Amino acid sequence: MLEVKAMELLEGIKNRRSIRGFKPTPIPEETIRNILEAAKKSPSTSNTQPWQVAVVTGKKKEELSKILCDLAKSGASEKSDMSSTDNWPPEMEQRFREHSANRFKTLGIDRADQEQRLELRLRGLQFFGAPCALFLFMDGALGMSSFFDMGLFAQSLVLAAHASGLGACLQLALTGYSEAVRDFLGLPATKKLIIGISMGYPDPEAKLNTYHSTRIGVDDFVHWYA
Ligand SMILES: Cc1cc2nc3c(=O)[nH]c(=O)nc-3n(C[C@H](O)[C@H](O)[C@H](O)COP(=O)(O)O)c2cc1C
Repeated sequence: MLEVKAMELLEGIKNRRSIRGFKPTPIPEETIRNILEAAKKSPSTSNTQPWQVAVVTGKKKEELSKILCDLAKSGASEKSDMSSTDNWPPEMEQRFREHSANRFKTLGIDRADQEQRLELRLRGLQFFGAPCALFLFMDGALGMSSFFDMGLFAQSLVLAAHASGLGACLQLALTGYSEAVRDFLGLPATKKLIIGISMGYPDPEAKLNTYHSTRIGVDDFVHWYA
């Protein structure tokens, strides 16, 4: 059995963070394939492996980005396959607000400035300049356990990207126009879009990459029983 370099694995988990600014440098296909080879080792309910992945690069990526940006600019209402809530528990609502406020602060954007807010949204729909976008789908007939599996797969994928010298950002924002994404990729409505991921070589000059998220302490969410 291969020896796991525990410290490197732990360090990688601890220092991964979302990257929201990329160099245009294309990622070699072999590198993307290696990342997917690692991600496919994720555990899943009875080894069912519910994940389906669309890798979108080059001209296709530009075309899809334009479709999404045009929808956003036209004010088209979003309809994600992913359910979220407008009713977060107060402590989560606070973290949500802090995260949002800090990102605006990093960019020097006034929260009331609708034009700049749209700009930021469009930047996300342009995959933050990444050369590669990944869309993770699962069959809509599947249940919560498969949904959980999808999260494990996504985490493995972004960690594998991190270990390959790449950065990534999981983006719920890329699921807002799920029907348009499915149409573009030629997928049936039964395939639910779980998450979109921008992936590429981090741009150290990108202002958004200077933003670092915070975490609550372990003792704030763990209860010990002995
Ligand atoms: C399910 C999910 C959806 C997310 N959607 C977005 C998104 O739409 N846009 C974005 O910029 N970041 C998005 N993120 C990234 C989170 O904001 C980020 O993981 C969190 O703030 C913690 O920061 P870190 O990843 O840098 O540690 C998402 C993360 C997850 C897990």
